Amino acid sequence: MTETYLNVRNLNVSYGKTIAIRNVSLQLAKGDRLALIGMSGSGKSTLAMAIAGLLPKQAHIEGTIDFAGRRPKLGSDIGVLFQDASGSLDPVMKVGDQIAEVVMTHLGMSWISARVRAAELLDRVKIPKALSRLNSYPHEFSGGQKQRIALAAALAGNPSILIADEPTSALDTVIQKHIVDLLGELVKDGGLTLLFVTHDIALASQQADQIAVIYQGEVVEAGASGQLLREPRHPYTKALINTHISLDRPRSKRLPQIDMAGLQ
Ligand SMILES: Nc1ncnc2c1ncn2[C@@H]1O[C@H](COP(=O)(O)OP(=O)(O)OP(=O)(O)O)[C@@H](O)[C@H]1O
Ligand SMILES: [Mg+2]
Repeated sequence: MTETYLNVRNLNVSYGKTIAIRNVSLQLAKGDRLALIGMSGSGKSTLAMAIAGLLPKQAHIEGTIDFAGRRPKLGSDIGVLFQDASGSLDPVMKVGDQIAEVVMTHLGMSWISARVRAAELLDRVKIPKALSRLNSYPHEFSGGQKQRIALAAALAGNPSILIADEPTSALDTVIQKHIVDLLGELVKDGGLTLLFVTHDIALASQQADQIAVIYQGEVVEAGASGQLLREPRHPYTKALINTHISLDRPRSKRLPQIDMAGLQ
C-alpha cells in the first residue's frame, strides 16, 4: 500500500462571512501529482495556501493538515511557486542571495556552500551562465526567467512537496510551455509530490496523474486524470471539459454546453 504523505481532513476555510473551502479532504502519497482545477473564485488558492500555511491572518481555518504526523513546514517540506514571480522574489535583492538564503535557512549550509548551491539551482532551472548571474537583480531577467528563478527558490530548501498556483498564467503561450515542461521534468527527476493549481483542464491532465475538481469551495469530483476526462461524473466537470473542447473547435462543430443554472 502506498504511504499517505499529506493528509487533509475536513478542511473548512472562511474569510469573515465568505466560506471559501467547505469540508475538503484529500490525500497525497509520495510522488503523486495532483491538479486542482476550478473556475475563478472556487477556492483553489485558498486550499493550496492553507496547505502551505500561507493564508492571511483573517482566514478562519478548521480541520487538519497532516504531513507525516505533523504540520508541514514551508520551505523544507513544501515549496511554493506563485502565478507572479514578483510575489516570491525580492526586487532589491540579488537572485543568488535570495536562493542562498533559503538554502542556508533550511539546509544549514555555510554562506559559501549555499551560494554554490544557488548557482546549481539556477543551472537546473536552465538560466544560462548561471554562475555569472548570481549577482543580478530580478528586473534583469525576462518574465519566464523570473519564474524559473522563483522555481529555483521554491526548490532551494529541498522540499518534498511543490505547490504551484497557476504558475504560467501570467506568461505568454510559448514561455508557458517551457515552464510547464521544466516543472514536469524537475518534479519527475526529483521524485517530488506536486499540487498543481490551474483552471486549464488540458494543462491539468498534462501535469498531473490525478485531478480534483473544486466548485464553490467543495471538491465535487476527484480521480485519475485519464478516467476523469473520459468519464466525468459531475455536471461541472462535464461543463469544464465541454467548454475547453468548444474553445478549440470551429463554432459550427462546438458541442452543446451544460446548463450551469442547475449546478447551484
Ligand atoms: N484574503 C481574502 N479575504 C477575503 N476573501 C478572500 C480572500 N482570498 C480569497 N477570498 C475569497 O475566497 C473565495 C475563494 O478565493 P480563491 O482565491 O481561493 O479562489 P481561486 O479559485 O484561487 O480563484 P482564481 O482562479 O481567481 O485565482 C473567493 O470568494 C474569494 O473572493
Ligand atoms: Mg487563485
